[in-house]
This record gives sequence, C-alpha cells and structure tokens, in this order.
Amino acid sequence: SHYYVTMKIGNPPMPYFLDIDTGSNLTWLECKHPQLGCQHCTQHPKHPHYSPQLINLKVECNNKYCDALRKDLAGGNPICQHKKPHQCHYNIQYVDGTSDGVVSFDMISLGENGKSIAFGCGYSQQPQKETSPVDGVLGLGMGTVGFVPQLMLHKMITKNIIGHCLGKDGGGYLSFGEQFHLGGITWAPMRKYELFYSPGQASLHLNGQQIYKHGVNAVFDSGSTYTYIPARIYNPFVLKVQDMIGSSHREVHDDDLPHCWKFKSIHEVQRLFKPLSLQFHNKIAMHIPAMNYLIHTVNV
Ligand SMILES: *[C@@H]1O[C@H](CO)[C@@H](O)[C@H](O)[C@H]1NC(C)=O
Repeated sequence: SHYYVTMKIGNPPMPYFLDIDTGSNLTWLECKHPQLGCQHCTQHPKHPHYSPQLINLKVECNNKYCDALRKDLAGGNPICQHKKPHQCHYNIQYVDGTSDGVVSFDMISLGENGKSIAFGCGYSQQPQKETSPVDGVLGLGMGTVGFVPQLMLHKMITKNIIGHCLGKDGGGYLSFGEQFHLGGITWAPMRKYELFYSPGQASLHLNGQQIYKHGVNAVFDSGSTYTYIPARIYNPFVLKVQDMIGSSHREVHDDDLPHCWKFKSIHEVQRLFKPLSLQFHNKIAMHIPAMNYLIHTVNV
C-alpha cells in the first residue's frame, strides 16, 4: 500500500499521483523534457508523463527557487550551468535512488484556484522502474522551494502548517495552512529553528521499559517506508524483543530484513509483542502498537 495525493497540474490541468514527502522540499513529476525526452522514467506510468513546453523551463540561475534549491542540494549540485536556453538543473539523492531534472513553472490547481508554482520536471530517475504507484513527489519540507511556502507566498494560506492523518486501510486527510480541527489528536510541538520536522529528543520504551538510556532525535519523514534507528538503539531493542517473545521462537532468514520470526497466526503475534512508545520531553507520548512496528511478510 502507498499513500499519495491526486493533484491537477499543467495547462490544461492533468491529474497526477504524488507521494507525500515531509522529508524533502522539491515537488517533482516524472517528465518528458521537450529536448531531452524522458531518459529514465517509469516504463508503465500511472498517467502520461508531464510534458512542459520550453517556456515553462526557462528559469535563470539567479531565480529565487533555483538558487534555494541548489543551496538545499549543496554538494551534488555545485554549479548552475548557463546553458541555452536557461534551465535550472538539479540532482536529488534519496535513500533509494536519484532524480535528475530541471525546474518548471506551471499551474497547480487547488480547489477552484490555480497558481503557477515551481516544481521539478524529473526526466531521469535511477533506478529506472517498470511500474510505480505514483507519478512523482509532493515536497512538504519547510524549504523555500517547498510546496507550502509557495502557497503562502501566493497568499492561498496564511500559516506554514501541514497536517496529515492517514488511515491504516487507506484514505485520510492532508491539510495545508490554518489549523484543522479533528478530535482525538494529541499535539506535540515541533522543535523550533530546525528545517526538518522533529519534536526534539525522545526516549524509546518497549512495554513501558526504556530501551536506551539516552534520547533519540526523530525526524518525521512521510516519504520513507521504513523507520530507521541507529544501531546503538536498534540492537538493545532487538535483544528486548527476543526476551519478550521467548526462546521457543527461533529466527528464520529473510532476504530484506535483519530479523525475522515465523508465527502460526496473527493472534500469536498480537499476544507476544508489546507496544512501543516514543516519549517526548513534555510527557507527550506516541504509542506504536506491535502491528505498526512489525512488517508482515508471508511464506518465508
Ligand atoms: C529543505 O530546505 C531547507 C531550507 O532551505 C534545507 O535546510 C534542507 O536541507 C532542505 N531539505 C532537503 C532534504 O533538501
């Protein structure tokens, strides 16, 4: 399963599926560049690739968004090439691949409104995929090129706030701007003066017992499938899990994940595995039931 939003982009507006990513700034679509084509794009995409005109891609190096993007990506993108016509190239590295593209300005429709915003025309993605559940990424990071700061600049919203509430069986809400009111929500303040979403130091507890005596600094990244914790915390956590489920459950091999156990039924898993919680400074806790920290694979 995959969380994505549908957005209408371009002129005329066409629908695209976008991955929701709080861990990156630039929104981009797989794209048929008018001169370069779609060099490495998904072979069987959900929608025909976005295909801008050259005029959409005419972005000078000193353009505000080009400049901000190149600063965000400093390292991999040292110089803006003054190619003709002017285009703003970028290369983004994710944990699971890279995307090369140029900045495009085009219409994004939100409700009744359409606004021209800066986003990426990604004409080369590595590794190249056969199919993908999405056509691109919705960058919800706080950087200048982020989608929400651009909406603010267009006065479509007045506050740089995002909210998401994702159902475990699909569906849910995504909101931009002014606070939305939903019941049953625990609010934890995000750390200030940081450019990524983090509630600050947290301690990790398994079934109420602290796993590691120091705190962890967690970053909320909706674009990653897995949650990563450093080995110094992960290893004692696994020891506690082994303790918790008892020695009668032997580990089996899995090609992708370091620890894997085989069980007869989900009920047995629910009985043996206790909840995890992340406890923040201000006594606010995020509870993670066992079924949400375990990954269910069949037939190993
Ligand atoms: C997002 O933008 C901010 C501010 O420009 C920057 O500090 C941060 O590193 C960017 N994040 C990514 C993943 O590029």
